[in-house]
Amino acid sequence: MKWTNDITRLLGIDFPIVQAPMFGVTTPAMVAAAGTAGCLGSLALADLDAEQCRDAIHKTRMLTQRPFAVNLFVHHIPGIDDRLRADYAEAKVWMEQLAQRYNLAVELPAIDDLAMHNYAEQIEAIMDENCKIVSFTFGNLDPQSIARLKSRGTVLIGTCTSVKEAELLAQADIDIICVQGIEAGGHRGTFATEDIPAIGGLSLLAQVSEAVKVPLLYAGGIYNAKTLLAARALGANGFQIGSLLLGSAESALHDFEKDRLRRAKESDIVLTKSFSGRFARGIKNIFVDESEASGLILPYPYQNKLTAELRKVARLNKLSEFVNIWMGQSISEFSSDSTTTIFKRLIEQTEILAD
Ligand SMILES: Cc1cc2nc3c(=O)[nH]c(=O)nc-3n(C[C@H](O)[C@H](O)[C@H](O)COP(=O)(O)O)c2cc1C
Repeated sequence: MKWTNDITRLLGIDFPIVQAPMFGVTTPAMVAAAGTAGCLGSLALADLDAEQCRDAIHKTRMLTQRPFAVNLFVHHIPGIDDRLRADYAEAKVWMEQLAQRYNLAVELPAIDDLAMHNYAEQIEAIMDENCKIVSFTFGNLDPQSIARLKSRGTVLIGTCTSVKEAELLAQADIDIICVQGIEAGGHRGTFATEDIPAIGGLSLLAQVSEAVKVPLLYAGGIYNAKTLLAARALGANGFQIGSLLLGSAESALHDFEKDRLRRAKESDIVLTKSFSGRFARGIKNIFVDESEASGLILPYPYQNKLTAELRKVARLNKLSEFVNIWMGQSISEFSSDSTTTIFKRLIEQTEILAD
C-alpha cells in the first residue's frame, strides 16, 4: 500500500485517510490530531455564520500548521410560507408538551426568531481565510462558487449517495467525489430531502467508480484494515472515516454520549429525520420514537432549529433519550485514544494486512 504524503500531495490522491467532518463532534483539536497522523482533518462548518467560521478556522490554525479541509452544507433553505408557519407552530406546541411530560424546561424559538445562514456567506469567509480544500454535502455548489474557488486552486470534494449524484458532481468539474454508502453515520449527503436513495456502500462505490473518472473517497462503515482495503478493492482512492473517532479524546461528545455509543446494539441504529428534518443515521431513542409517531417533522433546517434547545437542555441533564447521537452501522469499541493514535493504528494494521 502506497501512502505518499503531504496528504497525499494535496489530494493528487494515493489513498489519503480523511477524518470525516462531523458537526457537533469534530473539534479543532481533532482536525489537528488527524493531521499529526499524516491524514487530512476536516473542519465541519455546517450552518455557522461567517464570523463563527473564521473563528473555527483560526482556532484550528493555532493548533496545526498542516493543511485541512473545511466542510459546508450546500442545501437550499425553503422560504417561510403560510403552510410552514402553521406547521412550525403546531410542531412547537407538540415539542413543548413533550418536554413538559419529561420534565425538561425549554423555551423554543418562534419561527421568525430563527437565524438561517446560507453557505454563500461561508464561501466569502473561507476565501478570505485562503482555505485550500473545501468539501461539501447536501447537493452541489453553485457554478459561480465552483469557478471562484477553482480559480484560486482550491480542491473541491463533493458528496454523492447515488450514481446520478456522482455524475452531476463530475459534470460540474468537482475534483474529488466522496461516495457515501448507506452505512455511514450522521446525515445522508443526498441532494434531495425526500425519496432518498438507500444504496449500500459496496454497490454504490463499485458503480460510481465505473461511471465517473473523478478520484473517489469512500465513506461509510470503515472501522478497521479489512473494511478499508475492501473499499480500496472496489475503487476508492481515499477513505473518509467518521464513526471510528466518536469516542476519541478530541471528540466533542459528552461522556454520557460516549457511554451510550459504547452500549449501542445493531438494532439501535436507525435512519431518522426526527432531529433535523433530513435523514441521518444514529441511535434510536425516546425522542426518535415520539417524533416519528407525531407526524410533525418539519423540513430541514427548521426541524433542526426547533429541536436545538431541547437537545441542549437534554445534554445539560445528560439525557441520552433526547439528544441526537449519530453513528454509522459499523460498531467499534469507540476507543478513547487520541485521533492520532486511532489513525496511526489503522494505518499500521492496513500496512500489515496489505502486504
Ligand atoms: C456525528 C457525525 C456527524 C457528521 N457530520 C457531517 C458533516 O458535518 N458534514 C459532512 O459532510 N458529513 C458529516 N458526517 C458524515 C461523514 O462525513 C461520513 O460520511 C461518515 O461518518 C462515514 O461513515 P462512518 O461514520 O461509518 O465512518 C457526519 C457523521 C457523523 C458520524
